[in-house]
Amino acid sequence: MLEFGLANRGFTVALVIGLLFCGMATVPALSALRLPGNDQGYSPVQPIAYSHRLHAGELGISCLYCHQGAESGRYAGVPAASTCMNCHQFVSSTIAAQRAEDEAAKKEERSPKRVISSELKKLYDALGLGSDLKRVPSKELKPLAWERIHKLPDHVLFAHGPHVKAGVSCQTCHGDVQRSERVRQHSDLSMGWCVNCHREVNRNGVDGKPVHASTDCSACHY
Ligand code: HEC
Ligand code: HEC
Ligand code: HEC
Ligand code: HEC
Ligand code: HEC
Repeated sequence: MLEFGLANRGFTVALVIGLLFCGMATVPALSALRLPGNDQGYSPVQPIAYSHRLHAGELGISCLYCHQGAESGRYAGVPAASTCMNCHQFVSSTIAAQRAEDEAAKKEERSPKRVISSELKKLYDALGLGSDLKRVPSKELKPLAWERIHKLPDHVLFAHGPHVKAGVSCQTCHGDVQRSERVRQHSDLSMGWCVNCHREVNRNGVDGKPVHASTDCSACHY
């Protein structure tokens, strides 16, 4: 694991070392720059109260199951509603709510109804499904409009692939997402954050494995 706090506290040191050895005064100088519009901590309300704590934490679903692109691509991507349906064609409420209904039905000697929670109804509405979870042709399709949280400026080149392949964990950059009800922007996404980590991994490797992460302007800028 990378020592993040350490990298930040050692920032002044890194700056001085950078000036001495780098021969490029611009990199450390710009690293100190914190541009306006830094959205660290940003955590918008999402169209469905989807919980990473429940899915990635409690249920233990792998991050890559829903964010496949992160393995080799530029973008991690956000899953389509059809990915949710792999499970939610069967699970339409909490397991506890359905179990309570099943028991009530048994007592009342009737057949149990399918319980649909208000949050999951939003998923079915987006897909134009009715209460039997079958497509209702007259219902309009409304793709889920997830609010984007992380966004680098257009002049920056970042790809998930090389980071994930080199063994940098999602949590190093995104924090303990699997413990959060709602995702927030964990890192400040500043140039200093990128460059400091590149220097740090070039010195210490990732989990002891040597890497070379470029600090050339052209590696990260068009
Ligand atoms: C079952 C699917 C699923 C799994 C598993 C999952 N995610 Fe997500 N993730 C989503 C959805 C849906 C969103 C968009 C809504 C939101 O922000 O909660 C999202 C959003 C995110 C975002 C914010 C994207 C943005 O807009 O900037 C990050 C970061 C993220 N996930 C990381 C992770 C990590 C790390 C893991 C594993 C610990 C993980 N996710 C597991 C479905 C999933
Ligand atoms: C691998 C299976 C799986 C996938 C994929 C999955 N879920 Fe779930 N989800 C579950 C299970 C199981 C529960 C019920 C847990 C419980 O009993 O509390 C659940 C619960 C929920 C709930 C809470 C329901 C309530 O009534 O409070 C919401 C909302 C939800 N999921 C949304 C989503 C969305 C949106 C996606 C796609 C981005 C998704 N899920 C993908 C298995 C899955
Ligand atoms: C080296 C740091 C780093 C690592 C490691 C990392 N991310 Fe990201 N992630 C970012 C940055 C930076 C952005 C914003 C990218 C942009 O705006 O182009 C981002 C954006 C995202 C997004 C939303 C936008 C998109 O790219 O689709 C999701 C979802 C996400 N990351 C999930 C993950 C998951 C899951 C993992 C682990 C498999 C992971 N990230 C690993 C830094 C990282
Ligand atoms: C937690 C440490 C860490 C952070 C933060 C980080 N990187 Fe990296 N970066 C790496 C590692 C490790 C590699 C892989 C080096 C290798 O494969 O030898 C890498 C590789 C890259 C590459 C591929 C080219 C190359 O040098 O190998 C680019 C481009 C890149 N990073 C851009 C960024 C940008 C832009 C940011 C900030 C938005 C960022 N990185 C943040 C650790 C990090
Ligand atoms: C490892 C990745 C990385 C490297 C290497 C890098 N930058 Fe950056 N740079 C970034 C990121 C990320 C931002 C956006 C930060 C923000 O918006 O807060 C940025 C922002 C900038 C900006 C500010 C642009 C604006 O929005 O006003 C300038 C100028 C800049 N970089 C120049 C350079 C120069 C010159 C070099 C080489 C000496 C360099 N960068 C090397 C990642 C990098």
